[in-house]
Amino acid sequence: MIRSALMNVMTAAALKAGRGLKRDFGEVENLQVSVKGPGDFVTAADRRAEKVLFEELSKARPGYGFLLEEGGEIEGADKAHRWIIDPLDGTLNFLHSLPVFAISIALEREGQLVAGLVYNPIADDMFVAERGQGAWLNNRRLRVAQRRDLADALVATGIPHLGKASEHPRFKAELAAAMARVANIRRLGAAAIDLAYVAAGRYDGYWERALQPWDMAAGVVLVREAGGFASDLAGGGDMLTRGAILAGNEYIHRALGETLKKA
Ligand code: IPD
Ligand code: CA
Ligand code: CA
Repeated sequence: MIRSALMNVMTAAALKAGRGLKRDFGEVENLQVSVKGPGDFVTAADRRAEKVLFEELSKARPGYGFLLEEGGEIEGADKAHRWIIDPLDGTLNFLHSLPVFAISIALEREGQLVAGLVYNPIADDMFVAERGQGAWLNNRRLRVAQRRDLADALVATGIPHLGKASEHPRFKAELAAAMARVANIRRLGAAAIDLAYVAAGRYDGYWERALQPWDMAAGVVLVREAGGFASDLAGGGDMLTRGAILAGNEYIHRALGETLKKA
């Protein structure tokens, strides 16, 4: 466990927002059967969670800036620090009553990612990492999986949704290339959880394109602190600006990157 003041602040905020999301998730299950469906309700739940996170983190760390999925960029008096937040990653799962979604909070200091948290309030999985302090799931220290051969690897990805259909041809080519090499592929529908699962050794690797900084920032810290590699698809460090990510242990990261490059 990480017992730093920073991690206390982050976990307290996530637990509070998580309680709200859990309540709202119960309500979504009731709304599934209505004709109108739970669409507007989910949007409201998302905004409520973001408001809780913004208020709690502003109170605990006055002056820090924010990059919020819903609220956008909010400059702070303290230019060195910025929170990067997705209040609800896996919205489509939430909307369909699938209990695979998370709150994602990262902290950037002087442009470097220094802490990350991914919290699934239904599973009560609290993944945290801080630079130099390792990655943890609740009280357990995490290590990335140690498999070296792609043929043994369980790899995750994300399918671009209908609104990003222009990405589909490239995705299909990359999927075909990966399918020909890895043991099998999963698509859970929450990028923050995909990265947390790489950190936990549940997945051997993960790649996805067309993401936003808040989908990835916390998970990148988790993977790196669990001894893994996270980069953009060219192998560089520009995941957040390029919106593409590749993660795994040293071997799977390299081999999967080479496989996708040939697609
Ligand atoms: C989405 C999820 C999904 C990924 C999408 C993201 P949201 O985030 O992370 O796994 O494939 O590209 O937009 O919209 O649920 O916060
Ligand atoms: Ca997201
Ligand atoms: Ca979201």
